Amino acid sequence: MSDNSRTILSRRAVIGALGIGTGLAVIGSPTSAADTGIQFTHGVASGDPQATKVILWTRALDLSDQAKNILGKWEISATEDFRALAGTGTFKTGPKRDHTVKIDASGLEAGTKYFYRFLVGDVTSLVGHTKTLPIDDTNIDLAIVSCSNYGQGFFHVYGEVAKRDYQAVVHLGDYIYEYAEGGYDNPEVLAQGRKAEPKTEILSLEDYRKRYALYRTDPDLLAAHAAHPFICVWDDHEVANDTWKDGAQNHSDDEGDFKKRQSAAFRAYMEWLPIRESDDTSAGKIYRTFEMGTNASLIMLDTRHIGRDRGLTYGEDLPMRTTAFHFAEDKTPVAVLDPAEVAKLPAASIKHITVPFLISKDGAKPMTDWEQVKVLDPAALPAGYSFIPDAPKFAKDVLGNAERSMLGTEQEGWFSGELAKSKAKDTPWQIIGQQLLIGKVGIPQLQDNEIDFTKSKFINAKLMGFFRMLGQMGLPMNLDAWDGYPAARDRVLADIKANANNAVFLAGDTHNAWAFDVADATGDKVAVEMATPGISSPGFESFLPADTKRTEEALLKVSPEMKYVNANDRGWMDLTITSDKVSAQWYFVSTVTKPEYEVSKGPMKHTLKGTHTLA
Ligand SMILES: [Fe+2]
Repeated sequence: MSDNSRTILSRRAVIGALGIGTGLAVIGSPTSAADTGIQFTHGVASGDPQATKVILWTRALDLSDQAKNILGKWEISATEDFRALAGTGTFKTGPKRDHTVKIDASGLEAGTKYFYRFLVGDVTSLVGHTKTLPIDDTNIDLAIVSCSNYGQGFFHVYGEVAKRDYQAVVHLGDYIYEYAEGGYDNPEVLAQGRKAEPKTEILSLEDYRKRYALYRTDPDLLAAHAAHPFICVWDDHEVANDTWKDGAQNHSDDEGDFKKRQSAAFRAYMEWLPIRESDDTSAGKIYRTFEMGTNASLIMLDTRHIGRDRGLTYGEDLPMRTTAFHFAEDKTPVAVLDPAEVAKLPAASIKHITVPFLISKDGAKPMTDWEQVKVLDPAALPAGYSFIPDAPKFAKDVLGNAERSMLGTEQEGWFSGELAKSKAKDTPWQIIGQQLLIGKVGIPQLQDNEIDFTKSKFINAKLMGFFRMLGQMGLPMNLDAWDGYPAARDRVLADIKANANNAVFLAGDTHNAWAFDVADATGDKVAVEMATPGISSPGFESFLPADTKRTEEALLKVSPEMKYVNANDRGWMDLTITSDKVSAQWYFVSTVTKPEYEVSKGPMKHTLKGTHTLA
């Protein structure tokens, strides 16, 4: 990244060019007398750069007749005056694809900066800036971003990214959020006009289109798109919270067929994001590789939609400890606590029954009185009694189930092949752009008096007590991340060990900044992970409100692979790749809930070729 002074396309310039703030027309909103004729309503964008081609995007419609298809022209040039064109052609768009335009501009020079624009009649779009990938050992600077929630805050991060010089912006997902107004936003931010469109949770193709159209009126996001090519993958919220291949936590039966919703979401994503389309992307396969010159292969994975099995939750999937009862004929069942005694009895006469335990300083004793067990109300246990999670059974049989997949068999195989191809070319770095933390995160043992439960919608003292106990049993904090798919993680890390030269995982999703040394199943350090904070979505501080320093200490203490965490701030990460070093420099913004903010430089971590660890 170069310094701030090299502003290549400022937020102000974009606002001026688009007339944002003075009545930008968005499809679905009433058309005023001024909003007539041809307009490029959502600026320009570029994406999926390769050495000789790049996707160019815009949205053009005739506001006087939105049912009409329109014809236009595109131009790309190495000079800002467009005198000599490196490429030009025509386009046609209309309501069938929500008036979006996508061009794959090819025949370009590698490692070159270009200007591009669109024209319909005498109406010209904003001029965008883009770059092709190099084919030599040029150093690569990437902005790594994720989790931009319109109703949670201002997109200052996009504005800052727009001002700086990058090869590309890598967006690790949660580009939009699907919630209804009031579902997952900040009242202080809503009061400043950042209201959801549509107001309901988005379910249909029209809904998803309108949500993208809303986000793309944000001047900071528009500026970032106009300034750099984006390389995007989706996380869960591009469809619905905590999604997997066949469903989502935030999808209920009364919201219709999930697959129909998912395909509507995928279609709107393809229409609105500058991603290269193919038969694969139509089928929802967006995992793909970018050769960043000779220094790095950027391998983008989909850890959400294409092959992921349902995520586990402690609420639904954690078995509780049982006690064996012997059911002898005509007799009251008797608890048998000694496993050796249980083994001697006929198996058919033994039932393992979930019972609560009396917890005292002497330990935990199961409830053994059958009369008491028989009439037990799990919601109203006698004083001192609790159900106890069966952590070893959960870890072995449920969490440890080798069949559970994160990537799906096809993507796992593809990933292995991409690593091997990159290694065969002697490419020093395999950068893996994906959503979820792969480093292991334990449950911080913060005490109740350290947590301000009044500030959290997610946790209370009872739940925290339960979490602390799970943590003491060695269970991970976030079952939605790779921690919830340990067998799949082991397979991926074994692959890294066998087939990569130097692997760097990128991650988003958590809204916080992290760095890890990542060890495989044998304990060998095989990769590092550098994770970017969210652009505006709230992070750990909203889940577990406590003194930030204490939270960070507590997280580091229970997570030996973790080398860095910022549990409080929104921002982004600059990734610089040279032939022998990859560095992450974190940046943070002072607030996302107010229009005025400051940027601060966070720490820098790097990894040297051959070390597989952070320095
Ligand atoms: Fe997110």
